[in-house]
Amino acid sequence: DTQVVVIDENNIDEKAKEALKKAGQILLDGGLVAFPTETVYGLGGDGRNPDSSKKIYAAKGRPSDNPLIVHIWQVEDLYKVASDVPEAAIKLAKAFWPGPLTMILNKSDLIPLETTGGLETVAVRMPSNKIAAAMIKEGGGFIAAPSANTSGRPSPTMAKYCIEDLDGKVEMIIDGGQVGIGLESTIVDLTVDVPMILRPGYITYEMLKEVLPEVSIDKTIIDSNSKLKPKAPGMKYRHYAPKGELTIVEGSQEHVLKYINEHAAKMQEQGHRVGVIATDATATFYKADVVKSVGSREDERSVAHGLFRILREFDDEDVDVMYSESFDTNGIGQAIMNRLLKAAGQHVEHV
Ligand code: TXA
Ligand code: MG
Repeated sequence: DTQVVVIDENNIDEKAKEALKKAGQILLDGGLVAFPTETVYGLGGDGRNPDSSKKIYAAKGRPSDNPLIVHIWQVEDLYKVASDVPEAAIKLAKAFWPGPLTMILNKSDLIPLETTGGLETVAVRMPSNKIAAAMIKEGGGFIAAPSANTSGRPSPTMAKYCIEDLDGKVEMIIDGGQVGIGLESTIVDLTVDVPMILRPGYITYEMLKEVLPEVSIDKTIIDSNSKLKPKAPGMKYRHYAPKGELTIVEGSQEHVLKYINEHAAKMQEQGHRVGVIATDATATFYKADVVKSVGSREDERSVAHGLFRILREFDDEDVDVMYSESFDTNGIGQAIMNRLLKAAGQHVEHV
């Protein structure tokens, strides 16, 4: 059975400490714990234990060639996970850890191939969420964790979504409330000559460029028509596929409104139930069965924060056709569009 414990990140009292100790013991014994981070909830197991990693793949229903991220709680443990730590990694750790940045490095013998999906490289991240940090420490310091969703569903931003996906499959779920960011960490590969972004996130290209002289971006992230294989194995899967067929509509606000309302009406006539992903300023102008605002364009972090929740909510609304507004790809917009395009199976209408 799965035990659910509630912990307030800003008040880790004696009771919470006891629960975190228990979580640590579960992890050390080879069990699984879902826990909050500042990005999304993670599904944790001991990253040094091959059997724990196998359990994670089974609980998620995830292909075992898709490597896990090893979470640490102190920077010095980077040297235990990686066989060599380049200057760039030290700079990035200083600038962005603890926080939503994952680095790919050559792995040490501490981390088995079961955790890295058979790769000689390892993904490492030091989360800033205090519950996560305390749990990692109690659990031995090296917690392998993918996002805590069933493979193919949006990453969980609240504990209730972990319960939906993982109840009965993990020993414990720690409910630490809503996550702060809402999209998964930025992944940077440091095993290549020029550091390369493999997955965009809250730490943007622009932010990385302030710390490193050169940064490149995996082409498959920006070019939706690219036939190349993404460099992060997990990025090749169609994540977050909503139940409804999603189309992203790009153009001026006026044209987008007109296009979506006309097509929504047509689809409704044909018997479909239609949903629209709008923004705060436009939501009242759409006519469809379900219209939800994902956030405000004036603060794109609010859009990042709402995206996965909205996608799950639309699944519960049983809409079978969905339209979404589009977002600029500057700053965090790149991460928003990367996830939205995946949800839409790259289907964009330019109007
Ligand atoms: O914010 C996050 O990163 C969350 C929280 C829980 O920390 N975790 C997360 O894990 O998003 P996951 O498993 O859903 O995504 C990990 C991604 C996958 O696309 C995987 O292919 C890639 O990281 N990855 C892991 N190890 C890698 C490696 N050695 N080389 C290239 N890509 C790697
Ligand atoms: Mg994931």
